[in-house]
Amino acid sequence: MGSALYEGWKRHHPALKITLCDPHNSGAHYHDLGDIHEQFDLCVLAVKPDQIHDVAARAHARLNPHGVLISIAAGKTLKNLEALSHATSTGQSDMRGIVRVMPNTPAAIGHGMSVAVANDYVTGAQKDFIGTLFQSVGRFAWIEDETFMDAVTALSGSGPAYLFYFIEALAEAGESLGLDRALSLTLARETIFGSAHLAAQASEDAAQLRKNVTSPGGTTEAALKVLMDENTGLAPLLRQTLEAARNRGREMGKTPS
Ligand SMILES: NC(=O)c1ccc[n+]([C@@H]2O[C@H](COP(=O)([O-])OP(=O)(O)OC[C@H]3O[C@@H](n4cnc5c(N)ncnc54)[C@H](OP(=O)(O)O)[C@@H]3O)[C@@H](O)[C@H]2O)c1
Repeated sequence: MGSALYEGWKRHHPALKITLCDPHNSGAHYHDLGDIHEQFDLCVLAVKPDQIHDVAARAHARLNPHGVLISIAAGKTLKNLEALSHATSTGQSDMRGIVRVMPNTPAAIGHGMSVAVANDYVTGAQKDFIGTLFQSVGRFAWIEDETFMDAVTALSGSGPAYLFYFIEALAEAGESLGLDRALSLTLARETIFGSAHLAAQASEDAAQLRKNVTSPGGTTEAALKVLMDENTGLAPLLRQTLEAARNRGREMGKTPS
């Protein structure tokens, strides 16, 4: 995820000075935060949630006095991050701006969806700049109420994986009707790609687009009777799916690292 953001920002903001630290990426400027002596206006933590504990305090020490720490880690709350980044500091006077962002991997091709929430130490100008950064790799929105971040993570953060699986499952279903595997995969992938594009560009909403292609008594209607069954269809399954992701995010926020 970090690479997707880095590549997008480099492409869209060539004048921006970006320093990349990654232990095993041979293209990184540094392999250990301990080797960096510069001070930064923004530090973006794009490590796994269980690595945040190691990284946050050291990244915090490399921020300018009014710099902002940005975390994209699932589940880690502003409170978690404040505690981690102040693990070595003495108190309130050292508080810095912290922003929690949930991006998603389509950012790699400029079609990401990112949602962010900030603590009270982030200024309006800093928020504008952070918004500009994330808008350069897709759509971006601020939310005020952090309690919704686990739901955002469940929907747009983890969502690409659901769609990838939908492609796999649709292709498998095509194969079960006798289609060749390669053809079935192409049909599934391109149908989702084309439909997502259409939904993004059309003036009608998704429900209307669905109705437009559902003739009474036709094949699509027969299919949707199964898919839209209120007990066994996709909607109750997706509710359970998102709840599982949201609950896991909540658990991750409760553990200190
Ligand atoms: N994947 C997604 O779709 C997605 C979406 C939204 C948010 N996120 C969040 O993004 C974060 C990263 O997830 P990911 O899937 O991109 O994981 P990932 O591919 O494992 O990326 C984590 C990166 O952090 C590096 N790293 C580990 N320790 C480090 C250290 N001490 N200093 C600097 N870099 C270090 C890792 O390097 P090595 O692997 O070389 O050790 C790796 O390049 C997670 O917190 C996740 O919740 C992910």
